[in-house]
Amino acid sequence: MGWIVTAMVSLLLWMASPALADGLNHAVQTDPQYESLTSMSDDGIGKRYMGREIANVIGHRGAYWLERSSRALEERPDLLIQALDLQPEMVVADIGAGTGYFSAPMARRVTEGRVYAVDIQPEMLALMERYKAESGLENVELVLSTYADPKLPADILDLALMVDAYHEFEYPFEMMQGVVSALKPGGVAVLAEYRGEDRFSTIKPHHKMTQRQAKKEMAAVGLDWLKTDESLPEQHLMFFQKP
Ligand SMILES: C[S@@+](CC[C@H](N)C(=O)[O-])C[C@H]1O[C@@H](n2cnc3c(N)ncnc32)[C@H](O)[C@@H]1O
Repeated sequence: MGWIVTAMVSLLLWMASPALADGLNHAVQTDPQYESLTSMSDDGIGKRYMGREIANVIGHRGAYWLERSSRALEERPDLLIQALDLQPEMVVADIGAGTGYFSAPMARRVTEGRVYAVDIQPEMLALMERYKAESGLENVELVLSTYADPKLPADILDLALMVDAYHEFEYPFEMMQGVVSALKPGGVAVLAEYRGEDRFSTIKPHHKMTQRQAKKEMAAVGLDWLKTDESLPEQHLMFFQKP
């Protein structure tokens, strides 16, 4: 009799295991739309998702480029932050935060809330940690993510910002599932991407994205397009809402 109970418990655990594992790691669910390419572009990783080749990651040695002084004029980060309409009590995330170029101004606005600054590169987070200590930004929490999981708690975010980062996610479907899970119902994911429609832009092709592509990819994870702000010189600022 005992062995029958043991066998039934094992069978039930075996049947439940994908669901249990998925609760711990978003990478367990994979999207069938990934394709491996036989060759990779100069700025790509040789893997295609929903028709586009995923871009390579800007390494931490490129941190100086993210902090270049000309960026303020070229990209108008002030307009980007203004368009987010952040309120003091909001809980937000900067995903693919890099050196924290956007985490810091966000933290200065969500004074009663919190910013989760998420990145896969510990070296980037170390730069952010140093800046955070120097400027006393106590409401910034640094999060080391994996390639497929932003490692954020569920249902906590009012807003998740991704600036020049989404096109680099090696597992965009799984990452975005993690972002959607971290958003509160009604919460908003915001993508800033260099305009893929702009043939004259000097940005490398896989580091840009068309609106059409972004809308298709966000719809795949259940996000609804809300609006696109076109006030930035070179980037679409696209807002998607969790129902
Ligand atoms: C081009 S940088 C942009 C950094 C920052 N958002 C900015 O605008 O200054 C892209 C960042 O995304 C990070 N990244 C790439 N894939 C990621 C992933 N799966 N999860 C978290 N961060 C990721 C990279 O490590 C890099 O720091």
